[in-house]
Amino acid sequence: MHRDDAMTILVAGGAGFVGSHLCETLLQQGHRVICLDSFLTGREENVLPLCGFRDFRLLRHDVAQPVVLSERLDRVYNLASPASPPHYQADPIHTMMTNVNGTLRMLELAERDGARMLQTSTSEVYGDPEVHPQQEDYVGHVNCTGSRACYDEGKRAAEALCYDFVRAGRADVRVARIFNTYGPRMRPDDGRIVSNMIVQALRGQPMTVYGDGSQTRSFCFVSDLVAGLIALMEAGRAPATPVNLGNPEEFEIRELAQMVRAMVPTTSPLVFGPLPEDDPKRRRPDIARARELLGWQPTVTLSEGLPQTVAWFTAEIGGAAGLATGTTDEGRSRADA
Ligand SMILES: NC(=O)c1ccc[n+]([C@@H]2O[C@H](COP(=O)([O-])OP(=O)(O)OC[C@H]3O[C@@H](n4cnc5c(N)ncnc54)[C@H](O)[C@@H]3O)[C@@H](O)[C@H]2O)c1
Repeated sequence: MHRDDAMTILVAGGAGFVGSHLCETLLQQGHRVICLDSFLTGREENVLPLCGFRDFRLLRHDVAQPVVLSERLDRVYNLASPASPPHYQADPIHTMMTNVNGTLRMLELAERDGARMLQTSTSEVYGDPEVHPQQEDYVGHVNCTGSRACYDEGKRAAEALCYDFVRAGRADVRVARIFNTYGPRMRPDDGRIVSNMIVQALRGQPMTVYGDGSQTRSFCFVSDLVAGLIALMEAGRAPATPVNLGNPEEFEIRELAQMVRAMVPTTSPLVFGPLPEDDPKRRRPDIARARELLGWQPTVTLSEGLPQTVAWFTAEIGGAAGLATGTTDEGRSRADA
């Protein structure tokens, strides 16, 4: 599809779970998309189908390094960062630098071209929150020396950079604080709670619940998140502050486990392990600001999105029968990301 007002859009981190869905949607809308990705956690399978689009270009590059682009950009989405604890803790210094230097590089590109920039921040900037649900005005409860700090503090520093660029009049920047998102194209080994549970159930392995499973999360289906990111980017005026994007339906982790067990024929028992360090006890977005400023709210419930995700993982990792001997990512996957 071609359109007269087609834009040239850079998606840093476009080969990842969320980024590949975003690239796909933008291409379907008729835009030219440049996907910049180092493939640290992204996968070629995610973007191979997009290579069939004439207006798609793939650039293998580390976002933290200087980049030369000849195209004039209209939009810059920065999603480049490992997002699950096992991945962002594997090389914490690189995670911090990806978020700080990488965001700076993307801001500089946006400034060069007068492009709009959208930074993907995270609910992790609220840390283990003392207020519930979390509103954007809450400044957070983050341990700056803990093992999650490379990500939480990296994202917080990235937000600071964004608003310094805004205050200096150097770029039009929008910041999305994303809450737990799930759906097809999550990596089976990425250690996030939804993928962990589904993969363990499909493989007939014990399903790990950390703590007593009473901690809560709110799960947003990926198509809803992508719609929210685009709505934020295309809002006529940049909101003066970050905007939470997530699904406010809140579930205990043990409820999630029961839902997965109801969808996957499995004999997997639930096993309980210690809570990871600095693991948030409760998490639910207040999305009043997104509703008011963007007219956005999620439309896919967990009971609708989970079966689609289970179906995708079943195809991806070969179905239950082929998985009994599959390798386990237990031990690495210790977090309710
Ligand atoms: N999915 C969620 O629940 C969630 C929640 C909060 C925030 N976010 C944020 O949204 C963004 C996308 O998350 P995701 O779930 O798709 O994760 P993901 O790991 O699937 O995608 C991240 C992408 O960034 C790329 N990347 C990482 N470091 C890079 C670097 N130095 N240079 C270039 N590319 C690099 C990876 O290869 C990958 O393709 C991330 O910034 C993440 O922090 C996601």
